[in-house]
Order: sequence, then C-alpha cells, then structure tokens
Amino acid sequence: MKVAKTNEIEPGQARLVDVQGKRIALFNVDGTFFALDNTYTHRGGPLADGEISGHEVTCPWHGARFDVRTEEVVGPPA
Ligand code: FES
Repeated sequence: MKVAKTNEIEPGQARLVDVQGKRIALFNVDGTFFALDNTYTHRGGPLADGEISGHEVTCPWHGARFDVRTEEVVGPPA
C-alpha cells in the first residue's frame, strides 16, 4: 500500500498519513524512513508535529521523547 512518496518527506521531517483508518507518523531520518503510531499514549499528542533530533522525536504536548527506531521512550513527559 502506497501512502507517500519518499521525496515528499525531507530528512529531519515527518508527515502524517492515514493507513486504513490509523494515523501514522512517517519520519525521515537521514534518508531512512520510520513509521510510528501518531498518537502518543500519554495524552494523545501528535508525534508527526514533534521536533526531530537525530533518531529522537519530541512530543509537542508535554515533551516526551521517543527513539523512532525502537519506539522506546527515552525521555518522560515533562
Ligand atoms: S501527550 Fe505527548 S508528552 Fe503528553
């Protein structure tokens, strides 16, 4: 299933896509693409709007940080 073209998401950027009704955040980290559920479990913050630094994205609502490679939380909500 095609949801986006790789050249539509610049390195260090993210895009929100709909995959069969699920909201998925696609991240481009130096040309490698990662997909995460867009809705963070803390309070439902939109990860596609988060700031990306290296392999980490910061949830825009309360500042939790994730590793996009593993989906591991590397920093708790502020
Ligand atoms: S909803 Fe993202 S840190 Fe709270």
